[in-house]
Amino acid sequence: MLVTKQPVLRRFWYALLPMTALDAGPQPFTLLGEALVLWKRPDGTPVAMRDRCCHRTAKLSKGFVSEDGNIACGYHGWEYDCTGTCVKIPQNPAGMIPPGASVQAFHCQEKYGYAWVALDDPLQPIPEFPEDGAPGYRRIFQFYEEWKTSPLRVMENSFDNSHFSFVHKANFGLFDQPAPAGYEFRETHYGFEAETRVPIRNPEESYRITGTREPITQRHLINRYYLPFSRRFGCMYPDSGIHHIIYNCATPMEDGRLMLVQWLYRNDGEEQCSTQELIDWDAAITAEDRDILEATDYDACVDTRRRVELHMPSDKPGLVIRRQLLGLLEAHGESEVFLSH
Ligand code: FES
Ligand SMILES: [Fe+2]
Repeated sequence: MLVTKQPVLRRFWYALLPMTALDAGPQPFTLLGEALVLWKRPDGTPVAMRDRCCHRTAKLSKGFVSEDGNIACGYHGWEYDCTGTCVKIPQNPAGMIPPGASVQAFHCQEKYGYAWVALDDPLQPIPEFPEDGAPGYRRIFQFYEEWKTSPLRVMENSFDNSHFSFVHKANFGLFDQPAPAGYEFRETHYGFEAETRVPIRNPEESYRITGTREPITQRHLINRYYLPFSRRFGCMYPDSGIHHIIYNCATPMEDGRLMLVQWLYRNDGEEQCSTQELIDWDAAITAEDRDILEATDYDACVDTRRRVELHMPSDKPGLVIRRQLLGLLEAHGESEVFLSH
């Protein structure tokens, strides 16, 4: 699926950058092929604009935030406010600003500690993640890294429990139990919710993560898919009562390249598992996913009639993701570019 060829994808919110990244000044980010600059106003709110000065086309991400709280171009110092309007031309002492001197600004807001952007008018708000700020939960930024694959591949993988026994066999996967338990499936206004219980290996290294010393334990998963490219990995360990809830945005940068944004909520404290342990634990697992996903064809078609998977009950979530994505495209007069796979 070529994300830059589907204009409706511009009408969703994506997590682009941790807000803390903007403390160092304006930052570049490519979203759906659009080169943006993000910066932070003195009141702490983020701004997203096209990364081109309207004077001599310098990237505004090379600039700085001025004393007046505007973004200033690093070439000749022209300043733009949060709407993208040019408000100062230092070379022009009379203060005259040519009509139309401006840069396009985009929808931008902070949520969950990240700067989120929608390029065109959003079809729905940023999804609600109920653990954020809920009593007893802590939020941990886990990582933020570029992957060379498509967000569709990441979403399919997120609900594909049949890869555990293979991709994660050195970790929690049970190599000799390759048939995954079925999902209980509920379609929702944002996508779907899928619930299942999965037995996992629980070697000594994972005792602090799972909160139990049983050699085989269980994950009770209530996972959610949020159109188009976000997901919840809602993992609860019934043996200990620990919740390990991961949210991911597979933010589409351009065809074949995305930013994998991942953060975690746990209902325990540092004495059970330190922040660094939790970052390192999931980084190792996710590196295994990255390795296999970067080995797939990021542009294989989203044809819901794909021959093999249609006959596999365990592939139902992937089929529903593709059906829902296709439905979204068709509702906006678009279609997927089908390839001969
Ligand atoms: S190119 Fe930006 S001020 Fe000249
Ligand atoms: Fe995985």
